[in-house]
This record gives sequence, structure tokens and C-alpha cells, in this order.
Amino acid sequence: MKLIESIHIDNFSYRRLIKLLKIKTGLNFEYYNKHFIEKRIKSRMIRVNCDDPEDYLKHISSQKEEIKNFVDGFTINYTFFIRDYDVFETLQDILLHGLNVSKKDVDSDIKPDPSKLANFRTKANAAKNLKKKAHLISKPEKYYIDIFIFLNQLAFYKKLKLVPSEKNSINIWSCPCATGEEPYSIAMIMDNLKTQVPRFPKYRIVASDIAHEAIEKAKIGIYTNDAMKEISDYYENKYFTKQKTNFGHNNSISERIKSNIDFVEEDVTKGHNRPYKYDIIFCRYLLIYFNRENRPKFLKIIENRLVENGILILGKTETLFDSWGSLKLIDSRNRIYIKSHSKIY
Ligand SMILES: C[S@@+](CC[C@H](N)C(=O)[O-])C[C@H]1O[C@@H](n2cnc3c(N)ncnc32)[C@H](O)[C@@H]1O
Repeated sequence: MKLIESIHIDNFSYRRLIKLLKIKTGLNFEYYNKHFIEKRIKSRMIRVNCDDPEDYLKHISSQKEEIKNFVDGFTINYTFFIRDYDVFETLQDILLHGLNVSKKDVDSDIKPDPSKLANFRTKANAAKNLKKKAHLISKPEKYYIDIFIFLNQLAFYKKLKLVPSEKNSINIWSCPCATGEEPYSIAMIMDNLKTQVPRFPKYRIVASDIAHEAIEKAKIGIYTNDAMKEISDYYENKYFTKQKTNFGHNNSISERIKSNIDFVEEDVTKGHNRPYKYDIIFCRYLLIYFNRENRPKFLKIIENRLVENGILILGKTETLFDSWGSLKLIDSRNRIYIKSHSKIY
């Protein structure tokens, strides 16, 4: 079988392919990393037995089915519930802090059981090593480290004045939402607080993605156990019903949670078709696919949709460094930025 590495696509053919794909599909392929698109083209070339990019160009121009095959595998919908649980813990902390409610006064267990963590062994080993290191640190030194973390957190919260943009309502946008696990995770956190904190505001979640099939799956809200690998028992028991099938278990999200989300199929590089500004935007694991030249156009769309003092949460492997435009880093571990035109940040 042919190897991806053995195929070469010159610049001229690449540009012609991208242009043709854009005309045929309406998608803005020029936003994505060349490496990412090239890999997709090469793997399709192997599938249809083409050695020469120009032959593939002819093939894709004449075969409607090939356009569909190309696009189907183009988007990577990988996601799961409570992906990076510390990000969701921070979201909860931010909301409680804004309402002056102590964490101790609410029931919420976001951290997944260690036995459930996919890479449990690696994480457990890392924790052990950390414990060992902690023993090596003398007591006063450890005390200063704790104080340092505490002061950092305090500074972070003081900077954050999350005020609902509309009268007593928090607007959240999950973009991209893939098959729905991210917006449903946010809705679970919000619902869990709303049922326990008397003054908790109303909230609205809009969730969008370019992939038609992903959005349709999200609307159905039924998931296999793979999507549940990092969700705590607390949230799993509270918001899912389980059904046994011939292929394993199905987990259906509660109707109450579903009713809080408006799913939209759209290409974010072309803008956003809901009229809102948002207090919180989750934009996790999309930026990594975009190339440097086009990132600013995309970031402008996101920045314009945030209210002043609203927050942007990126994926853990994504960064705008200290700032981008009015977006300023306030939590480097969780890649959280605040939109602020003031100079204090
Ligand atoms: C890896 S998933 C991230 C899902 C989720 N945010 C998370 O963190 O688990 C990336 C998603 O980006 C979507 N996507 C790619 N290009 C897009 C675009 N131009 N507009 C909207 N969504 C896009 C893909 O369809 C895919 O579902």
C-alpha cells in the first residue's frame, strides 16, 4: 500500500485543489493549516488510487461522491464530557465567586473517579511523583508555595467581574461544539448550581459546529460509554439515563439539559448567525487547525461576540500568549482570556 509520505503535492496543485474544493463545498479551506489539509488530500488520493495531484483534481471535479467523502473525514469531531475537568471546576468557581457563594455550600463533584480516567496510570504516577516532591519541600517553603497559589487565585478572581450581559441572564457560546458533549457539560454545571443557589441567574447556551452530522448527533443527545470516560459519577447519575443495547450501553442526556441549548450548524470563519453577544465563549480545540495568516480574522469574530469583561476559554494546547487585541490572559493553566479595554489587566 502507498504511504502518505511518498506523495508530493506542489504549491500550484495545492492551490488549485483548495480553490476547487471551496467552489464545490463553500468551505473556507484557506483558513486551515496546510499540513492538515494536505494530509486529508493525500489520504483520499491513496483511497482512490491516485498518484498525481492533478489526476486527483480531475477525479474530484467529476465525482460528486468524492467531494462528500473528502468533507466527511475533514472535520475532527473528537470530544467527550467534561473534557479537562479543571476547566469546568474553574467555570464553576467563577460563577460562585460572582454570586458571593462559597464552594462549600454547594454539592458538586466534577473531578472524575481515578479509575475512570482513560490514562489513569500515567496520571496516578504523575500524582505520586508530585507527592514525593512535596515531601522533599521543607514546611516553610511549602507554606509559601500555597500562599503564592492562593494570592494568584485571588488576583485572578478580583480581575473577573462576570456580570450577566442581559438582565439577569448569562449568555454562553460553545464553538465548536462537535457532537454536543461540551455544551451539555456546561449546561450540567449551570443546572446543578441553579438548583442549589437561590439567586442563580438564567442562562442561554448556543452551540455551533460546521459538521452537519455532528450537530444532528448533538441534538439527539444519546452517547456511548466512550464519551463518558471522564465524567464524575455525580454528574453521570444526575443527568443521564442508561440503556443496555446489543453494542454496549447508551447514555441519554436529560431533557431538561437538552432544552437549554440551541444547536446551530455554521462555519464560524463566515461569522455567527445568532444576534447575541456572550458573557462566556468556549472556543476549544479549533484554533489549532487554523493557519497563522487567517487566525486574526477568526479571532476578530470571536472578540466581537464577547461583551466587555466577558471570558474566552481556549483548549489547553492553544494560546494567544499574553494578549490578543482586547483579549487578555488571566489564567494561563486553563487558557482563559478576558475581554477588557482597560489597562489594569
Ligand atoms: C476537536 S473538536 C472540538 C470540540 C470541543 N470544543 C471540545 O473541546 O471537545 C473540533 C471541531 O471543530 C469543528 N470545526 C472545524 N472547522 C470549523 C469551522 N470552520 N466552523 C465551525 N466548526 C468547525 C469540527 O467539525 C469539530 O467538530
